[in-house]
Amino acid sequence: MTRALISQGPVPSAPLPAVDMSTTLGQLHLPAPMLTASGCAASGRELDQFFDITTIGAIVTKSVMANPRSGRATPRMAETPSGMLNSIGLQGPGIDRFIEHDLAWLEERGARVIVSIAGSTVDEYGKLAARLRTVRSVAGIEINISCPNVEDRGQVFACRAGSAADVVNAVRRHSDPRMPLFAKLSPDVTDIVEIVDAVVRAGANGVSVINTVLGMVINTDTMRPHLAGITGGLSGPAIRPVAVRCIWQIRQAFPQVPIIGMGGVRTGLDALEFILAGANAVSVGTSVFHDPSAPARIQVELQRALGERGFTRLADAVSHAHRPADSRAEFDDDIDFISE
Ligand SMILES: Cc1cc2nc3c(=O)[nH]c(=O)nc-3n(C[C@H](O)[C@H](O)[C@H](O)COP(=O)(O)O)c2cc1C
Repeated sequence: MTRALISQGPVPSAPLPAVDMSTTLGQLHLPAPMLTASGCAASGRELDQFFDITTIGAIVTKSVMANPRSGRATPRMAETPSGMLNSIGLQGPGIDRFIEHDLAWLEERGARVIVSIAGSTVDEYGKLAARLRTVRSVAGIEINISCPNVEDRGQVFACRAGSAADVVNAVRRHSDPRMPLFAKLSPDVTDIVEIVDAVVRAGANGVSVINTVLGMVINTDTMRPHLAGITGGLSGPAIRPVAVRCIWQIRQAFPQVPIIGMGGVRTGLDALEFILAGANAVSVGTSVFHDPSAPARIQVELQRALGERGFTRLADAVSHAHRPADSRAEFDDDIDFISE
């Protein structure tokens, strides 16, 4: 039986259904909806050996800070059930080297790039935005506000509406007014809608949800915390329902705000779930560590899943789960009000 299958060669996969996979994030138009999640694909150079990085929507680069950083002490990763805990501590080359080395390569490669920035003070975010203003190849900026504010007892910017807004406001003031800005939010808040309201009022054009969920592992042999940083960020399939819930709540409160969804996406059906909940684009993070071609594979799987459900445009599926149950089978033009 096995020999017979082998002699016939690989089973040809069915042709991909024709689906317009383009998406719109405010003023940013992307030909495809899948992105890399910040921190899980560096600047895309390694992934480009596994798939053509220009075929996905965009590369979201690892959060860059003003100065080079070596990150936290090891161990800084731990496996958890259906997930992973990390406390890398934003290791990176600093903005100047990033622009000269990583951004220059991405520009030459022809990839669309969303640059993720991170800071320890509001002023640092502003300076990073000003520095990026001089670079042509940036399609958008993702503002990673899940960082401790050294001027406020290490409180994470993303966890308070006021400090989240201060950061976005600083980036907006120092950026080209047309530059699309996405605030990357933490799920570790009581009311994520309140944070979205604050960052949008401060000048964000959209939001990226979710960053990792704060977690902790204790090693039962050493009977001490496993991570040198004690706590870390939980990612992977374990957090997917949290991400879906956040996307749903944000979409319900803000029908027009562009959403980049992420958190445990492994398959095209996972990505479809995010789209149906209200995401306009989907980032893939942890999955890349065991399948470096995941963003491209998931994009193909998503296209197939959309076609199988009768969609000819990805935009028509955005927020579909919010429609009353009896009208879900009709794909009329009125779906557009939340997808654009
Ligand atoms: C090893 C690792 C490093 C990460 N670094 C960053 C980062 O630099 N900036 C950021 O905004 N998010 C960072 N994240 C969070 C991811 O971008 C993403 O929001 C989160 O992991 C959920 O998606 P996933 O489950 O697909 O990984 C990192 C996640 C991991 C696992």
